[in-house]
This record gives sequence, C-alpha cells and structure tokens, in this order.
Amino acid sequence: MSGDTSRAGLFVVLEGADGSGKSAIAAELARLLEAEGRKVAPVLRDDPPAADSRAGLVRAVGRLFDEAKADGTRISTLSLAAAAQYSALLDSQVEPALDKGVIMIAESWWAKTWARLAIEAVRRGEISGVAAATRFQEWQRTLLPGREAIAPRHLTILVEAPQADRQAWYEQAGCPSPVYDLSGRTSYAPEVYGRFTQELAETLHGQAARAGWMIVGNDASRSPARGAVEIGEAVRKRLCVLKGGR
Ligand SMILES: Nc1ncnc2c1ncn2[C@@H]1O[C@H](COP(=O)(O)OP(=O)(O)OP(=O)(O)O)[C@@H](O)[C@H]1O
Ligand SMILES: [Mg+2]
Repeated sequence: MSGDTSRAGLFVVLEGADGSGKSAIAAELARLLEAEGRKVAPVLRDDPPAADSRAGLVRAVGRLFDEAKADGTRISTLSLAAAAQYSALLDSQVEPALDKGVIMIAESWWAKTWARLAIEAVRRGEISGVAAATRFQEWQRTLLPGREAIAPRHLTILVEAPQADRQAWYEQAGCPSPVYDLSGRTSYAPEVYGRFTQELAETLHGQAARAGWMIVGNDASRSPARGAVEIGEAVRKRLCVLKGGR
C-alpha cells in the first residue's frame, strides 16, 4: 500500500526448536510489517481456507499426525505425508499469495519437521545407529526440494533460545505437549522436553550453517519484539533486492 516494495511477495519462514519463540516473534513481525503498510498473512496449516482437494490433503495429513501415536503410523510415512502437505501448501497458499505481493509467514516449515521426526524415529526405535540416522535425515531432506520459482522470495530465519529458557517457558505454560524420552516413551517432564528440544536445536543449527540462514537469538532478557525488528530489517533488504534496488 505504502510503496512499491509492498507489491513484492516474500515467503518468510521461521524455523527453530519447540518453544524457541517462533510464534511470539511471528506475531510481532506481522504487526510490524502491517504497520509499514505491507500485506501479511500466515500459512494456514491447521485450518486451510480453501475447500479444494489440496486443502483436503492438508487436513488429512493433520489428522494423520494427530492420530499417529495411537495407531502406530511409522515415522517414514509421516515424513512423506508432511512433505506432500507442505508441497500442497506451497501450491495452494504460498505461491498464489506471493504473486499478489503478500508476505507469507510460516511459523516453522520443513526443516523443523524433518529434524523432529528424525529424532523421534531414533527414540521410538524405528532407526538405530548413527549411520542409519544420518541416512534417514538425508533421505528426509530430499522429500521437499526447494522450488526454483520462489527461491529468491524465500527467506528462512532460525530462531534460537537457550535450553534453560525454553524449558522454563514450557513449565510456565503448564507443560502442554509431550516429547519422547530416550526410551521412546512420551513424557511431559520439563527436563525431558529441554533435552529433546536441545537435540532439535542442534540439528537445526547445523542445517542453518549449511544453508546460510540468518540466525536470530531469543531469550528471557529480551522481548520477542526485538527479534521481530531484526527480521523486519532482513525482510526490507530482501524486498529491496527483489525490486532491483541495492
Ligand atoms: N523473549 C521471551 N520472553 C518471555 N517469554 C517468551 C519469550 N519468547 C517466547 N516466550 C514464551 O515462550 C513460550 C514459547 O514461545 P513460542 O510459543 O513463541 O515458541 P514456538 O517456537 O512457537 O514453539 P512451538 O514450536 O512449540 O510452536 C510462549 O509461552 C512464549 O510466550
Ligand atoms: Mg509456535
């Protein structure tokens, strides 16, 4: 609305371990970008707006994940299903929105999904040994290849928070969601959550280093709004490049 850059769409992805502050930062980022007159929308995975077959796929995969623990769905099946779901989201929500100049924000995307599922596969005993775990991750990574059509408009940021802070925020929230402990049992214990999410954080850090993602820190001494300001600057820079400026 306010300038030419508002016409360039951008797919802003926040990756990061559970509880690192992605949702908190995404909310601030959306506020900040909207205040600059830009069109912003979230990727709607839980409740896709369209009623077409792709939205049906997105919903069906959501149900598969909800019921996977009870019905024994294998992790490799979940990885394939998640990749298909994300691909459908790219087709049905992200690409059309980018073409209309909307900034789409995803609070976690493929990296967090494969990294989390890979850790779960080991904890559940579906994969054993370091070599097999590495092979499994490599396989997962290929399931959702980057799309050339949107690559220049895709900006991934890793949000990192210290394990102690993630664990404390989880406890403050009443330990809402379980993770697998080392023996493959689900647990709500904060220490188990802390260790599980730390392993996830380390995997994602490796991925960020490989892929050259921007890393934004978040911790108890700084508000999520500060992270949003840093990301907002990166968004503005990328939009400028897309516009053909510096
Ligand atoms: N800088 C911060 N200061 C205080 N509390 C914070 C800060 N960042 C996040 N929190 C709180 O920590 C909790 C986890 O944050 P949030 O839900 O944003 O994480 P997330 O990365 O989206 O997690 P998930 O992967 O589980 O969706 C929330 O209750 C949030 O309000
Ligand atoms: Mg979140």
